[in-house]
Amino acid sequence: MTHRIAVIPGDGIGKEVMPEGLRALEAAARRFGIDLALEHFDFASCDYYAAHGQMLPDDWFEQLKDADAIFYGAVGWPETVPDHISLWGSLLQFRRRFDQYVNLRPCKLLPGVKSPLADRKPGDIDFYVVRENTEGEYSSVGGKMFEGTDREVVIQETVMTRTGVDRVLKYAFDLAQTRPRRKLTSATKSNGIAITMPWWDERVKAMGVHYPEVSVDQFHIDILTANFVMHPDWFDVVVASNLFGDILSDLGPACTGTIGVAPSANINPDGTFPSLFEPVHGSAPDIAGRGIANPIGQIWSAAMMLEHLGHQDAGQAIVDAFEAVLSEGDPTVLTPDVGGHGTTETLGRAIAARIAG
Ligand code: NAI
Ligand code: MG
Repeated sequence: MTHRIAVIPGDGIGKEVMPEGLRALEAAARRFGIDLALEHFDFASCDYYAAHGQMLPDDWFEQLKDADAIFYGAVGWPETVPDHISLWGSLLQFRRRFDQYVNLRPCKLLPGVKSPLADRKPGDIDFYVVRENTEGEYSSVGGKMFEGTDREVVIQETVMTRTGVDRVLKYAFDLAQTRPRRKLTSATKSNGIAITMPWWDERVKAMGVHYPEVSVDQFHIDILTANFVMHPDWFDVVVASNLFGDILSDLGPACTGTIGVAPSANINPDGTFPSLFEPVHGSAPDIAGRGIANPIGQIWSAAMMLEHLGHQDAGQAIVDAFEAVLSEGDPTVLTPDVGGHGTTETLGRAIAARIAG
C-alpha cells in the first residue's frame, strides 16, 4: 500500500526544516519498507500570496482531499502578509474543511534539553494534550449590537455538541488505553461555567464507562495550569475543550524546553479526510535564512504521521533516533537552541543516519 503525502513547507524556517523532516521520513520508510508517494505544493505560503493574491488556489480542497496525510512546515511572514490573513487563509481552512477535530501534542522532556522547571529530568514529563479542535468556545455564534453607543453589547456563545465532545473524548480514552499508565485527566471549570462544563464532566463519566482500565481524574483549568508547572509528572493523557486545550497545549510543551522540538498533529480520526502534521513553532522570521533552526519539531511530526498511518515501529525509530542524538550532545551537530553550534542540516543528517541504523 502506498501512502500519499502532501508536502507543504510554507514560509521562513518551514522551508529549512522541511528537507530534514523529509530526510528522516524517507530514512524510516526505507528501513521499514514503507511505500510513500510525496507530492509537493507551494501554496499555503506568503510567497504564493505575493504571486496570486490569495494563500490557496481555488481548488485546494480537490488537490489535497485524497492525500493520506499532509506534512506541513510553518506559515507566516508578517512583514508582507498580516498573520490573520496567512493563518486563516491556509492552516485554519485545512483544520475546518478536513474536520481535524483532534489537536494532539506530546509534552515530553527530552535528553539534553533543559526544562524551565527546576530539577526536572527526562521521564518526569511525558504526557499528551488532546484538544477539541472544531467547536466549544471558538464558535461563530454571537454578535454585536448598538456598536459605538453606551448600550454596546457583544455576545459569543460556547457551542458543545454531544457528537463533537464524545468523539474527542473517545480519541483521548483510546490513546490513554494504549499507554502504560492508562490515565486520563479532564480539564474542566464546572464550578464557574455552570452549564457547559458540568455537562462536559457528565460526558467524560459516560465515556469512561467503556474504558474500565483507564483511571480518570479532573481538575478545574486554573489549578490544572498550576499543576502542569508544579507536578508535570502527574499527567499521562489530558483532554480539554478548544479554549482550555489551546492554553494547555502551549503550556505543556513550554514546560519541556525549546519550542524548536515540539510537534503537533491535527487529526481526522475517521480517516474521511487527511490529517495534518506540523511542528508547533512558526516561521521564525528572526532566524530564517541562517540555517540554524532546530529541525526536531518537524522530524517528530514525521514520526507522529507515520504512527497515524499505522507504522508505530517506524515512528518509534525516529523518536529513538533524535533522543539518541540529543543524548550524545555533540555541539558540532546540535543547533544553537539546544546548546550547539551546528546547523539545521548537521542535526537533520545525524538523526537520519541513526534512523537508517
Ligand atoms: P515562532 O514560533 O515562529 O518563533 C518564536 C521564537 O522561537 C523565535 O524567537 C524563534 O526564533 C524561535 N524558534 C521557533 N522555531 C524554532 C526552531 N525550530 N529552532 C530554533 N528556534 C526556533 O513564533 P512567532 O515569532 O510568534 O511567529 C512568527 C510567524 O509564524 C508569524 O507569522 C506567526 O503567525 C507564524 N506562526 C505559524 C504557526 C504555524 O504555522 N502553525 C504557529 C505559530 C506562529
Ligand atoms: Mg495556541
